[in-house]
Amino acid sequence: MFKKDFLWGGATAANQFEGGYQEGGRGLATSDTKTNGSLTRKRKHSFLDEHNQIVYLHGSDYIPKGYKAVLDDAMYYPSHRAVDFYHHYKEDIQLLAEMGFKCFRMSISWTRIYPKGIEEQPNEEGLAFYDQVFDECLKYGIEPVVTINHFDMPLYLSEQYDGWLSRSTIDCFLNYCRTIFERYKGKVKYWMTFNEINLLRGYDTLGVHEMDQQKYYQAIHHIFIASAKAVKLGHEIDENNQIGMMLAHILTYPETCNPCDVEQEILVSRNLKYFFADVQCRGYYPSYILKKLENQSIHIKKEEGDDEILKQGCVDYIGFSYYNSGVITTRSDAKETLGNGIKLAQNPYLQESEWKWPIDPKGLRISLNILWDRYQKPLFIVENGLGAEDHIEADGSIHDDYRISYLRDHIIEMKKAVEIDGVDLMGYTPWGCIDLVSAGTGEMKKRYGFVYVDMDDEGNGSLTRSRKDSFDWYKKVIESNGEIL
Ligand code: BG6
Repeated sequence: MFKKDFLWGGATAANQFEGGYQEGGRGLATSDTKTNGSLTRKRKHSFLDEHNQIVYLHGSDYIPKGYKAVLDDAMYYPSHRAVDFYHHYKEDIQLLAEMGFKCFRMSISWTRIYPKGIEEQPNEEGLAFYDQVFDECLKYGIEPVVTINHFDMPLYLSEQYDGWLSRSTIDCFLNYCRTIFERYKGKVKYWMTFNEINLLRGYDTLGVHEMDQQKYYQAIHHIFIASAKAVKLGHEIDENNQIGMMLAHILTYPETCNPCDVEQEILVSRNLKYFFADVQCRGYYPSYILKKLENQSIHIKKEEGDDEILKQGCVDYIGFSYYNSGVITTRSDAKETLGNGIKLAQNPYLQESEWKWPIDPKGLRISLNILWDRYQKPLFIVENGLGAEDHIEADGSIHDDYRISYLRDHIIEMKKAVEIDGVDLMGYTPWGCIDLVSAGTGEMKKRYGFVYVDMDDEGNGSLTRSRKDSFDWYKKVIESNGEIL
């Protein structure tokens, strides 16, 4: 049995869901400059570089030298309008309430609160918007779960400071955190600092132009400090606050029992995931990263007191996304497969989604066990789901049995982790509960929702919401606390 107060819900992010990009005094964010797949097409195609570093799909190692973000009238930017939660929030939250949601994960758009990131005073209209959203949630007994930073940052900070490469960005972020912690005290209890901290790369998510290893680790250090300070501050402002990290848990398997494959898997896992969770859960840099930095002559500039800050800012829980697993091999001729954020080698035992993401429900139970064993902190599955194309029947119905079966299989494994393995699981919020723009490709046709939104890849559509078959299915799952699947 799941806990009585298990947080069933769904997840979204402002830059993919909210729209209204120039309304209510909002400033430009790096995410506003992402066109419909044009940046992603320039991606590199190998999955490990010479230092066993994963080559990432999110973000933009691909930004040309000297790149300046310019909005081009001839281009289409899907996030500008997204699915217009900005104007549909009442209708949307009502639909979530109809499914019986206990919580709703969403992110705050930093530039709605601080348009450039450096202002003395926050933008009242932006603050008032989220007040209305939270009030609407609370009216239905839906607990908001808020990601403070989900794949965006003020464009101004990126252009002027080179984003997270600058130490000053920490202060700007803390200012933003203080404002929202104070304003939403009593309304929001569950927070997460940085979405998929281990997948942040390059320009759009880190705000850094011309990335290299040295700059990457420096920017990530600043993010660790910002997150730790935010956790401390959040606890000071309201002791009821529960502040988590957010990790992309891409499960990796060694291809064979050849010790070389096994060793390689451990090395990759550390770089890909555990470094980030180790720092945020344990409060210090693990020895394997310190050695790696030393061996590669990467020098992180720290300020006095940084080590203490990391110790004081350990997270309360681990929020994580789980979409797929992948295979690690020492062979150079392995077939590649896609997946959340990175390319890995293909697993012959698994089916793949239309977008070539391996489908591995058992991997969710394995992930829960690994994270619980390693950290002994409450876990929260804050993203999971199947991106698929939906077809509307003549009568308007959408029979998304493929989505139901993906989610059902994952919930079955999640139950085993709780009932058989004793993992401490707080909740489950499948991704894109209402259809939204894809982070990886900018597409609308890659849909995750229980609720269909009439909008296509070119921005045509009425934005009308309709219920898919999975809507009624999930409603029953929640009603029965996961007993009826
Ligand atoms: C996670 C992100 O990486 O996966 C989301 O936190 C993203 O922002 C989700 O949308 C699914 O990825 P995609 O590329 O299918 O949108």
